[in-house]
Amino acid sequence: MTKMNIVILILLLRSRARNYHSTLQGLSQTVGLGELIEDEDEGESNQHQEQDLKQAQRPADPSGSNSPLLYHHDSLSSSSFPPGAPKAAGEPYTRALIAGRLTTENTTWLDTYLPTDPTLTPFIYVVNDQTAPLHTPRNKGHEAMVYLTYILDQYDSLTLPDINIFMHPHSIAWHNPELLNHDATEALKRLSSERVMRHGYMNLRCHWDPGCPERIHPGTSYRDNLKREEIALAGAWAEMFPDDPIPSVVAAPCCAQFAVSRDRIRSIPKAHYARYRDWLLRTKETDWISGRVFEYLWHKIFTGQDTLCPDTRSCYCDGYGVCFSTPETFELWFDNHHWWRKAIKELEVWEERARTIDGVSRDYKKIEGMRLDVPVPGRNWELKREIDERFQLLARVRVEALRNGTDPEVRARVAGRLWGVGEGY
Ligand SMILES: *[C@@H]1O[C@H](CO)[C@@H](O)[C@H](O)[C@H]1NC(C)=O
Ligand SMILES: *[C@@H]1O[C@H](CO)[C@@H](O)[C@H](O)[C@H]1NC(C)=O
Repeated sequence: MTKMNIVILILLLRSRARNYHSTLQGLSQTVGLGELIEDEDEGESNQHQEQDLKQAQRPADPSGSNSPLLYHHDSLSSSSFPPGAPKAAGEPYTRALIAGRLTTENTTWLDTYLPTDPTLTPFIYVVNDQTAPLHTPRNKGHEAMVYLTYILDQYDSLTLPDINIFMHPHSIAWHNPELLNHDATEALKRLSSERVMRHGYMNLRCHWDPGCPERIHPGTSYRDNLKREEIALAGAWAEMFPDDPIPSVVAAPCCAQFAVSRDRIRSIPKAHYARYRDWLLRTKETDWISGRVFEYLWHKIFTGQDTLCPDTRSCYCDGYGVCFSTPETFELWFDNHHWWRKAIKELEVWEERARTIDGVSRDYKKIEGMRLDVPVPGRNWELKREIDERFQLLARVRVEALRNGTDPEVRARVAGRLWGVGEGY
C-alpha cells in the first residue's frame, strides 16, 4: 500500500464521524471524489458546469463507450502527424507548466507542489502586469493569449522542454479529471509523459462532456446562446486555417487544458502560431468568446483533426495510470459516483427542510397559511448510510485502479497498444 492510499483510508475512517457536508468539502483536495467544489473560473464556465450537472443527472455511461467509434478514437492515427516515440523506460523528461494569472490571483498551491516535482519548470504569465517577468502583449483572449505567447517566446529556445503542460492556475476545479479528485496537482503528478510523447497532444480532460461527441457546428446559422462561440469559430477558422474548409462538426473535450510534446510544437511552423495570436489580438469578439473559440481549436492546431474524442477509459489509464480493467468496472464506478452525488444532494435538501421547519416551529403563528415541505423522518439516516457506503466503495475501487495502473502491460492493453516485456509506460 502506498503512503497516499493509507492517507486516504485514514481520512475515510475519520470522515465517518463528522457532518457529511463539511467532511466532503474538507476532503475534496485529498480524497475528493467530490462535486462539492467551488467553481474557480470567473463565471464563464457556468454553462459548462450546468452541462456537467445535466450529464451527471442521467446515469448514462460517462465514457460514451456505447459508441461504436470509441476504440478508434484512441488510436494514434487520429492525428495528421506521425506518432512520437517515448524515451527508454526510466529516462526522465523535462516538463513545463504554462499558466496565466491575474495579479490578484493566488497560486500558492504551486509553491507547495513545485518542490515535490523537480522535473517541472513553471511558466506563470501575469496577464495584467506589463512589468511582470512573464507577461502577455495584452490581457485579451483569456488563456489562449498566454499559451500562444509561451510558444512564440520559447519556440526557438534550446531548453524548450520535452513536455509542455498548459493549464488553468487553479488547484481544484470542476473541469480537472474527476478520477483525480479534480486536483491539478494529481494531474501534474500522474500525467504520462510517454502518452504525451506518443500522441504529441493530449487533452488533460478525459470526460467527453462538454465537447464530445459533437458540440460545435461551425456552419450553422442558428445562434445558440449556450454556445455562442459556434458562429465566431467559423470566422476564426477561415482566418486561421485558410487552406482547410470549415468543417460541419468540431469536437473535443472542453476546457483548454492539455499537454504537447516539444516535437509536436515544432512540427508546426512558428509563423502559424503568430497568425493565431494575431487573430486573437485583432478580433472584435469578446474575450469570453475568443477564449472559448480556442478551446475548440487546440486539438485542430496540434493534431490537424476537426474531431478528437479519445476513449475516456484509455485516457485515464494510459494518461494517468488509473486503470479499470474492463468497460464494465469503469461504468460501475461512475454509476456509483452518480448515485453517491444524488444522495448527497437529497440529504442537503432534507437538512434544509428540517432547518426551515425548525425555524418556523419556534414561531408557530407563522405556520398558519404556509405550505411546508416536511422532511420524511429517518430518511436522513438512510441517506447518510448510503453516502457512506458508496463513498467507501468508490475510494476502494479507485485505489485498486491506481494499483492496476502501475503495470505498464495493463496500460498498454487498455490503450490498445502492443507491449513487450521490459517496456515502460
Ligand atoms: C492563498 O491561498 C491559500 C490557500 O490555497 C491560503 O492559505 C493563503 O492565505 C492565500 N493567500 C492570499 C494572499 O490570499
Ligand atoms: C484490477 O486488476 C484485477 C486483476 O486483473 C481485476 O480483477 C480488477 O477488476 C481490476 N480493478 C479494476 C478497478 O478494474
